[in-house]
Order: sequence, then C-alpha cells, then structure tokens
Amino acid sequence: MSALKDKHVLLGVTGGIAAYKSAELVRCLQRAGAEVRVVMTQGAMEFITPLTLQALSGHPVRTELLDSEAESGMDHIALARWADIILAAPASANFMSRLSEGRADDLLATLCLATSAPIVLAPAMNQQMWLAEATQHNVQVLTGRGIRLFGPAAGEQACGEVGPGRMLEPEQIARQVEALFAEGPLTGLTVMVTAGPTREAIDPVRYISNRSSGKMGFAVAQAAAEAGARVVLISGPVSIATPPGVERVDIETAEQALAAVQVHECDIFIATAAISDYRPVLEHQQKIKKDQSNLVLELERTTDILATVASAEKTPFTVGFAAETENLDDYALSKLEAKGLDMIAANWVGENTEGGFDREINALKLFWKGESKELPMTSKRELARKLIGVVTERYRQKHQ
Ligand SMILES: Cc1cc2nc3c(=O)[nH]c(=O)nc-3n(C[C@H](O)[C@H](O)[C@H](O)COP(=O)(O)O)c2cc1C
Repeated sequence: MSALKDKHVLLGVTGGIAAYKSAELVRCLQRAGAEVRVVMTQGAMEFITPLTLQALSGHPVRTELLDSEAESGMDHIALARWADIILAAPASANFMSRLSEGRADDLLATLCLATSAPIVLAPAMNQQMWLAEATQHNVQVLTGRGIRLFGPAAGEQACGEVGPGRMLEPEQIARQVEALFAEGPLTGLTVMVTAGPTREAIDPVRYISNRSSGKMGFAVAQAAAEAGARVVLISGPVSIATPPGVERVDIETAEQALAAVQVHECDIFIATAAISDYRPVLEHQQKIKKDQSNLVLELERTTDILATVASAEKTPFTVGFAAETENLDDYALSKLEAKGLDMIAANWVGENTEGGFDREINALKLFWKGESKELPMTSKRELARKLIGVVTERYRQKHQ
C-alpha cells in the first residue's frame, strides 16, 4: 500500500512557468492515494486557472487570505491543521524569499507559518535566478529550518537557457513525497554527521586547511535522511548544497566544530570531517610580512572531537573515518581501539588512488570489533547508502 494513502497534501502553486505541471502533480498524488487541496498565489493564477486545479482536485481552490466565506468554513488555521504536508510546487524565487522572511502576506505563506506539518518546496526558476546569491541564501535559511527541497533539476529551461532550476517532473515529486511518509530503518533516530575541512587562522588572510571537499559527508547525511533519520550536519567551509531535509550547522574551525557537536544530542555520530589536528598557537592580528627568509609556525593540538564524543557520558553509536596514505588497516584498527569507536571507515587518499578527497567516487573498508567489510569503489552517493545500511545493522545489534 502507498505510504500516501489518505494523507492530506496541501499543494501550493506559485507564480512560475512550471505551474502548468501542477495539474499533472495533482493527478500523481491522487493516484498514490493522497487527498489533495490546492492553494494558489496571485502570481500562479497568471499561469494556470484555479478552475483546472479545482476540477482535478475535486475541491475549491483557495486563493485569498482575507476571504470571509472561507473563514466561516475551513478557515486558514483549519486548513493549516488539515495538512499532513505542505508541498509548494512550483516554488518561485519570490515565494522562497517570502517564506525565508517569515511573511504572512498571502494565504500560502500564512499557512506555512501556521502549520506544524512538514514543508517541502520544489523550486522552479531560471538558472540565474536559482544561482543568485539571494536565492542561495534563502535556500540556506529554509533548509536550516528543516524545510525540504526536492530538486531543482538541471537541464534545458523554458527561457532557452541551460542550467539548474528546472522543476522535477510531477511523478518524481510525488514519489519523493511518498518516501517522506514511508517509515525508514532510521525513523525516530537522530544522526549527526560532520563533513568537510576546517580552517585554522594563521593571520587575517591565511589559514591551515586540507583537501576535504565534504562530498562524502554530505552523501552520508543524505543517505541517513533518506533512511528516515533526523540529520544534523556540521559542515566546514564547502560549496555543496544542503541535502533535502537535513539540518545544517556551518562551522569554520575545529573549536567551532567541537562546540556545535556538543550542542546537539544524537543516537549515531558519523565523523567524516577532516578536522584539523593542529592549529597555530598564535593567530597574528595583522598580516605576516615576508621580511624573513624562514618562518616557523608553532602549532598546538586541537581537541579530538571523535574521542571526546566516544568517551562522553551518554555515548552515541560512533563511527570514525580514517583517511590514510599508508598502512590503512593498521592505522584504522588502532584508531578504532584507541578512541573506543563502534566502527571505523577507512579509505585511501592521496595522489595514487582513484577515490578519496574531492573525487566523485570512493571505496571504504569498515572495521568493527573483530570484523571487517569492504565496500568497493562506487559513487559517493551509493557508497554512503551502503555505509548507512551497515551502520543501521550494527546499531540495531548493539541496542537489541
Ligand atoms: C512569463 C514569466 C515567467 C516567470 N517564470 C518564473 C519562474 O519560472 N520561476 C520564478 O521563480 N519566477 C518566475 N516569474 C516571476 C514570478 O512570476 C514573480 O516573481 C511573481 O511575483 C511570483 O509570485 P508568487 O511567488 O507570489 O507566486 C516569471 C514571470 C513571468 C512574467
């Protein structure tokens, strides 16, 4: 049976060229068993008529906030409570901006404030509009609040340009909405993932960092979210979009990463971040001048976040990553032991490997008490799904 059976989907249609696809989306959601009610913005009505969506959904389409007739029937608060999910598709740049500001200037935006249901957006816009700094900032704000984004896809656009910003196809959106209601193996658990590099300041313009791109960690966060977990992603400076439904906390230094990790409780902690092991003892307040032929930087150890988490009073299931250029098994096993981890995922890095830092593919060798398992070279997305599968198994064993 479809996980959408009898679910109440409030479909918000906003003013974009993809609004014509909302008609098909209503049908897809209904076919999956959902009851659909439609709310349109003023902008949306320039692209598709309420009559079409009324005929397809079988319910009057709501377009006005200040509507005395509606307020005597299913008022806006009742509608917000009725929804099991609010899905805005297409979600225009303007709507995302209004949402990120918390505005209540039309019915759809007000419903988004008044609901306790999850909110999902399927953005659709010209690729420049999508890539604009303001839109990307809004994306960060919205995903940081737990609002999920489905898409956008990249490809040919109605305006003739090519790039990211196309709305996903209605069938894909309906399937993703259905997946949200499906119980996953990690439903009810919180997974914390750290990802990317840190930067340790030398002076106002220089820092010590490493080659970590964050790709593996972001893929792990996405796989955990897909498995139904609530995911908190502590991210160093990287240029990757936040996976849908993942709560992201940006950090820059090892010290900030430690503070962020200690704020949130979790059931499973997966440390993919390449946290700097050392930082300069002294952060120069002014730019260091090149007037010496040799310059010695004194470094001090940063706090070992993984060991701190693994030795805390309430220890989550702890997974470490070991990126090594030599003696992979030995280093990984001694790290597993020394830090008291539940599992370690070891991978080769450096010049002579296909996978590793900043590559799209990777392979892992997992170790836990007395056992090991190889996950062969594949895309980081696929590898992350497999890793989450093994972590889920081991977590269940530990807590049965
Ligand atoms: C022909 C045309 C097509 C448009 N297509 C889009 C679009 O695909 N995505 C988008 O974000 N805005 C698009 N816009 C701009 C929005 O319609 C405009 O920002 C509007 O105010 C959105 O209102 P709403 O977000 O309240 O629905 C388009 C405008 C025009 C004139």
